[in-house]
Amino acid sequence: MKKILRILGLAVLAVLLALALLATYIYFSPAPTYAEVAVPELTVEVTPARVLQGRVLVQNNCYSCHHGENSTQLTGRLFDDRSANKDFGAIYTSNITQDANAAIAGYTDGELDRLLRTGVKKNNAQAIAVMPTWPLAADEDIYAIIAFLRSDHPMVAAAEANHPLHQPSFLERALRKLVFRPVPYQDEYPTRPALSDSIAYGAYQVNAVNLCYYCHSADIKAANPVEPTATPGYLVGGFVFPMLKYDIEVPNLLPAPGTSIGDWTVDEFVTAVKYGLRPNKPAFQEPMHPYLLDSSEIRAVYQYLASVAQQ
Ligand code: HEC
Ligand code: HEC
Repeated sequence: MKKILRILGLAVLAVLLALALLATYIYFSPAPTYAEVAVPELTVEVTPARVLQGRVLVQNNCYSCHHGENSTQLTGRLFDDRSANKDFGAIYTSNITQDANAAIAGYTDGELDRLLRTGVKKNNAQAIAVMPTWPLAADEDIYAIIAFLRSDHPMVAAAEANHPLHQPSFLERALRKLVFRPVPYQDEYPTRPALSDSIAYGAYQVNAVNLCYYCHSADIKAANPVEPTATPGYLVGGFVFPMLKYDIEVPNLLPAPGTSIGDWTVDEFVTAVKYGLRPNKPAFQEPMHPYLLDSSEIRAVYQYLASVAQQ
């Protein structure tokens, strides 16, 4: 009996020791690197058309995270208001202005493309997972974003920011080492659909560029960036963002009986997405923000959502 107890005791000790070693490894080992994710050969020509398109994409996809504290420039800030961040520790969104000390300084066009497609940074580590990826966007839209970041628009003019180093939580370190991996490059990238092809255009807005599905499905942590429609609870809402001062549940985005959008006219939907103003409800709160899109584009989004609702 005594012997059995001793063996059991030793076994428990061995397990505890193994767990302590694993925890030490997770906490102290350097972040894994992915130099094998190739940097494409790429030189993006900065044309007025690309800068114009890039301005829209950056406003809709990057601004809400990367704008500075009380600033409209993309100097970054403490990202302390979103749920992912509370789980992940004290994280700072990077300075992506043209300042010589900004995180983006020294990035080649190819390295920016790799970051936006796969999530791998210039230093070959994977970006903290709150920074999204755009694996389904058209090359031309990725080039437009890059052209805008290189442009003389005031939003990206050199501006200093002194962010402390990230203080990632144990969870972030564990996920980074054990679970998260770069998003693979796709064999082919689509071209941006024509607006006249409204359902395809709407799908592209929801799944490939503005990532509406990412927040508006059942659980942001289960979002499937390479096959958005396979995300559990696709577009039916339900995820709760614990913001700094309030919790907010993401509404169902399908115009169907029983959802609030189901009672709206298309024009009310357009006004909501464009200006944040809704029938019978207060204006949007963060993390939702108005989208810089034309009414015709938002109508295409609505048509796509209605087609999903009918499936
Ligand atoms: C949900 C918030 C969020 C959004 C949206 C977002 N980012 Fe980020 N971004 C971050 C965070 C957080 C980091 C810091 C990641 C790290 O240091 O690992 C970051 C880092 C970066 C970096 C610096 C990488 C480095 O090497 O330090 C660049 C460049 C960047 N983002 C560009 C963009 C662009 C362009 C967009 C829009 C197309 C965008 N981000 C949208 C949160 C976001
Ligand atoms: C970063 C997460 C996030 C993204 C991305 C996002 N939303 Fe939202 N959305 C929310 C949240 C949270 C609310 C609830 C806001 C509130 O009630 O104040 C919301 C509310 C809405 C509403 C109001 C619905 C209602 O029933 O009141 C509409 C419409 C909407 N979003 C459309 C969109 C569209 C279209 C896109 C993409 C172009 C999008 N959202 C992208 C988080 C997001």
